[in-house]
Amino acid sequence: MRIILLLSLVLFLNACFEADKTEKNNIKFGKITFDKNCVTCHGKDAQGVVKDWKKRQADGRFPAPPLNGTAHTWHHSPKVLLSIIDNGGVRFGGSMPGFKNKLNAAEKQALLDYIYSLWPKEIQQKYDAKFKQFGRGK
Ligand code: HEC
Repeated sequence: MRIILLLSLVLFLNACFEADKTEKNNIKFGKITFDKNCVTCHGKDAQGVVKDWKKRQADGRFPAPPLNGTAHTWHHSPKVLLSIIDNGGVRFGGSMPGFKNKLNAAEKQALLDYIYSLWPKEIQQKYDAKFKQFGRGK
């Protein structure tokens, strides 16, 4: 009986560890995908590249906002974020291109996981409380 208990504990811990590893790999994959496709506009670690992302640029358009929790990205549900990544902002008069046919579902999910990982703990908790039912877009 003891052996069985011990064995299930080991299996359980192993499963937790594996889940954690998968999450970390996904974040790493998200960062690679971000660095390839998004970093020129959204900046290193998604911090943004301008001082004030709320100020229109010379061409009348808004600059790319930071996605790291200092702007309002975390107010959007995972569904909305995926739709922004898919369709961009051009159709709303913005300048972000759409990535619908450039990235696959795994890459987009990894991007969401990466962006989420950049947010401070309190914001992640607020986000989970509000959008848990969507499982972060999964
Ligand atoms: C050519 C520059 C450019 C590139 C490349 C780009 N974006 Fe954007 N992004 C923007 C701009 C500008 C906005 C603001 C809306 C607009 O003007 O289209 C934006 C908005 C967003 C938003 C909404 C943020 C919010 O707080 O509402 C998300 C999420 C986002 N981008 C994610 C990404 C991801 C992920 C990638 C890479 C796959 C990416 N962007 C690539 C320029 C870019």
